[in-house]
Amino acid sequence: MPLLQVEDLSKNFVIHALGRTIPAFQGVSFTLEAGSLLLIRGPNGAGKSSLLRCLYRTYLPDGGRAIYATADGTIDLASAADVDIALLRRTEIGHVTQFLRPRPRVTALDLVAEPLLVAGHSLAEAREAAADWLGSLGLKAAIWQAYPSTFSGGEQQKINLARAMIAPRRLLLLDEPTAALDPDARAALRSRISTLKAAGVAMIGVFHHPEDIAGLIDVEFHVA
Ligand SMILES: Nc1ncnc2c1ncn2[C@@H]1O[C@H](COP(=O)(O)OP(=O)(O)OP(=O)(O)O)[C@@H](O)[C@H]1O
Ligand SMILES: [Mg+2]
Repeated sequence: MPLLQVEDLSKNFVIHALGRTIPAFQGVSFTLEAGSLLLIRGPNGAGKSSLLRCLYRTYLPDGGRAIYATADGTIDLASAADVDIALLRRTEIGHVTQFLRPRPRVTALDLVAEPLLVAGHSLAEAREAAADWLGSLGLKAAIWQAYPSTFSGGEQQKINLARAMIAPRRLLLLDEPTAALDPDARAALRSRISTLKAAGVAMIGVFHHPEDIAGLIDVEFHVA
């Protein structure tokens, strides 16, 4: 049984003030196995980010199903209760967005360490793992104890990536994770993705430059 089976998923945005409906994506179907990486392609505005957000349930899909095999049974991500989705977000599914939402007076190191704390690790362990992630992505140590709201675009993306990938996940949704990264950080991320894949983590990624993850792509899906 696959980790995720998406069937005929669709999303439209109804703009009530304008009396209009903006289509995001329609009839999306694919299957994802554990340990495999699915690349989503398509032009700007095709609905790639919206598709990832529907799977993470930041958006509620309009139709279709997304049957996900959790560690203890299957669940339809398209219709599951918010409380079940919240649990999956804590324990199984990670989402790397394009934009960081920093919180006031939380340092870069602690923002990254947080998912491990929530998962029950000690503060020392969580900070050590966070330092390992930030170091490997090349975030300069001088700003680990600073507040990310003023960080550069690439620095913020590094925080996003580390925060989403630091805790064990079974499914990772990656929205243009390399877009703002320098070449060394791209190479570091590729190596992390490769290691996670080998450990059985499934990933769905939007990459406008798939060469960043050359050799790691198992399936491609085009959103028109
Ligand atoms: N919250 C929203 N409300 C209304 N329309 C939205 C919303 N989010 C996305 N859209 C619209 O849905 C369509 C798909 O957007 P989406 O961000 O999913 O595209 P994308 O494929 O990720 O594009 P890009 O390659 O530029 O990142 C666009 O036309 C966009 O304007
Ligand atoms: Mg997008």
